Amino acid sequence: MRRPLMAGNWKMYKTAAETAAFFEKFNPQVANATHCDIVICPPFPNLAAAVEATRGTRIGIGGQNLYWAKEGAFTGEVSGPMLVGVGAQWVIIGHSERRQYFGETDETVLKRTVAALEEGLYPIVCVGERLEEREAGQTETVLVRQFRDGIGGLSPEQFARIAIAYEPVWAIGTGKTATPEMAAEAHRSLRAQVEARYGKGAAELARVLYGGSVKPDNIKGLMAQVEIDGVLVGGASLEAASFASIVNF
Ligand code: 13P
Repeated sequence: MRRPLMAGNWKMYKTAAETAAFFEKFNPQVANATHCDIVICPPFPNLAAAVEATRGTRIGIGGQNLYWAKEGAFTGEVSGPMLVGVGAQWVIIGHSERRQYFGETDETVLKRTVAALEEGLYPIVCVGERLEEREAGQTETVLVRQFRDGIGGLSPEQFARIAIAYEPVWAIGTGKTATPEMAAEAHRSLRAQVEARYGKGAAELARVLYGGSVKPDNIKGLMAQVEIDGVLVGGASLEAASFASIVNF
């Protein structure tokens, strides 16, 4: 069966000192969590502190974005080799905040995903509809477009190494979680697209995470859905006890 992946996206929160303090509390609380993969994605300047603080543990560290060139005159960007060099193993790609505020498109999401895979990183690629799209009954259409124009461009070998995160934009940071049934329905739609593009075996193996106001008190209901293979957690991953209780669902 698919191994759960419990990932925290710290967004633009925490300094290096706060990062070290988090792991001091968090590590012992998840030391026995062998049932899942655990990943934390801090802001770039704190990757080194996070890697250092998780050495010898099963916790993986990831970036929140990367640029597709290996190096060059791209002020403010960070490349795959740089993430690998600092000890990151994972990377979030195409988060809705990147799409909304920083002009990311399905096309750039694909480029970044390919670049991450070339460096041996494990991408967590985000998709999801906005509120007005859901209200207009376009959820499936949006997911189809994001898949087709984004990760659907990967080769089967490349696709096998990514996780997909379904994050309905209206559920992010709003306290409005999609019900487990709503999330599962979107996950089924995504899995059907994986099957159509990459085959039944790939669809059965693909890890599809849910993200959007995941909290200790709704994690059990979400993880009870066979379609939900883990979560990508924002706010509730910032506090050690809260993310540990999500990991230990
Ligand atoms: P919240 O858990 O704060 O709603 O954020 C979700 C998210 O965007 C994770 O990537």
